[in-house]
Amino acid sequence: MELKELYKASDNRYSHADTLYRRCGNSGVLLPRISLGFWHNFGSVDPYERSRQITHFAFDNGITHFDLANNYGPVYGSAEETLGKLMDDDFRPYRDELFISTKAGYDMWPGPYGEWGSRKYLMASLDQSLRRMHLDYVDLFYSHRFDPLTPMQETLQTLVDIVRAGKALYIGISNWPLEALRFAHQYLAERDVPLLIYQGRLNRLDRKQMDEGILAYCADNGIGYIAFSPLAQGLLTDRYINGIPADSRMAKGKFLKQEQLTTEVENCLQQVREEARCNGQTTAQRALNWVLEQHGVTSVLVGASSVNQLKDNLETVIK
Ligand SMILES: NC(=O)c1ccc[n+]([C@@H]2O[C@H](COP(=O)([O-])OP(=O)(O)OC[C@H]3O[C@@H](n4cnc5c(N)ncnc54)[C@H](OP(=O)(O)O)[C@@H]3O)[C@@H](O)[C@H]2O)c1
Repeated sequence: MELKELYKASDNRYSHADTLYRRCGNSGVLLPRISLGFWHNFGSVDPYERSRQITHFAFDNGITHFDLANNYGPVYGSAEETLGKLMDDDFRPYRDELFISTKAGYDMWPGPYGEWGSRKYLMASLDQSLRRMHLDYVDLFYSHRFDPLTPMQETLQTLVDIVRAGKALYIGISNWPLEALRFAHQYLAERDVPLLIYQGRLNRLDRKQMDEGILAYCADNGIGYIAFSPLAQGLLTDRYINGIPADSRMAKGKFLKQEQLTTEVENCLQQVREEARCNGQTTAQRALNWVLEQHGVTSVLVGASSVNQLKDNLETVIK
């Protein structure tokens, strides 16, 4: 008979609370400045024990926010299944200390109701997510992308109804353009389900959301902002300093391609490395620091394929 090792969270997990947490917009919620994303490294193709160690390290050090989506894996849905197993094995006693998000918007199942922003899709998707994660509710549910063909009212009213049904405590949107963000903010405020947070890509190589005014809009209107891919999927680290490691995201070749390692990226990296050296930081820490310094950023959502990577990233804000 297999004896499962029991997990007990560290008693010191909140010892850095003063520096770790930041208020999310003008809400009552505090989020860790370093949050953990499940897009990669938590799927059914990944070793469960490694995923487990990464989440233990996270929670033991106060990283209370885990970010998921219906189609994270691979295979689609399997990152949520991993979270479900982690809840059963380790985290059930700590449910109220965790802030778990999921999303729907991208392709999840075949046919006309398996993606975008219809009420039909969002409702069904969240029910599936809750079943996979073995949860009664999520802390935060996102519309994962803007749907230009579904009336915004339909998508937003569904988000309101999801909160009213107790399936999510808060609402967020991700990858919506500025005009749609304005509309969403107003629509949700009028229904007393305030927009908690916007999730968008922001890093030293991609400042589009700042240039478009999305970050400023969130800051001016008390909406939190969480930056995804703050390390540009690993480009803004020393991961590729000696070539392409066999176990790296670039070696897998699907989401990060060798062609992305351009001269412009190399030049930016050189600058980040120089700044890191002057500040006594690692390259990843300097890259994360830059994002966290931008006005309006609540948290950075990092990925990690090892405990050491997450430790390196966390040491941006706590030593
Ligand atoms: N809303 C959206 O549309 C959207 C889109 C993308 C992501 N997200 C969210 O954002 C999260 C983070 O995205 P991301 O994974 O692209 O973030 P990222 O932090 O930019 O990249 C993570 C990858 O960088 C490498 N890495 C991380 N820390 C490192 C370190 N200290 N030293 C060296 N390499 C390091 C690892 O690559 P290796 O795997 O090669 O080791 C890791 O898998 C996702 O999990 C998801 O929750 C949301």
